[in-house]
Amino acid sequence: MEILHSAVVLIHLVGFATIFGSWLVEAVSKRREFTKTMNWGLVIALVAGLALAAPWGLGELNYAKIGVKLAIIVVIGALLGIGSARQRRTGSAPAGLFWLVGVLTLANAAIAVMWR
Ligand code: HEM
Repeated sequence: MEILHSAVVLIHLVGFATIFGSWLVEAVSKRREFTKTMNWGLVIALVAGLALAAPWGLGELNYAKIGVKLAIIVVIGALLGIGSARQRRTGSAPAGLFWLVGVLTLANAAIAVMWR
């Protein structure tokens, strides 16, 4: 059970790396566009996160923290959806939405590791 749990944590981290990594590439390259890879990262982090929130019997879960992370990922999903739609219509991503996706993703990682 513990090895399976560790594997799901790893998948969860791959999801985080995918969304944040693809966002960082866009930020540094100055293209600053929303990409499909960000959506994939979000789905992977969400599905693995929900699986981790199940009672595994491996210790106490902090449901307040999980709830906050879930709320934030829903907001990130909404921003990705709205931002991608506007990008398709106008040809560029709204800067505010683009930066907010990166900040909120990093905030979720910070909450994960700093809120004990
Ligand atoms: C962008 C969104 C997210 C990011 C960046 C993120 C990041 C992380 C990171 C870095 C960890 C490892 C922390 C550690 O083990 O100390 C973690 C663990 C965890 N995450 Fe997330 N997460 C996200 C979304 C979610 C969601 C939506 C849920 C559940 C609904 C969730 C549930 C969990 C749980 C339960 C753990 C603990 C695993 C354990 O037992 O050690 N996460 N997350």
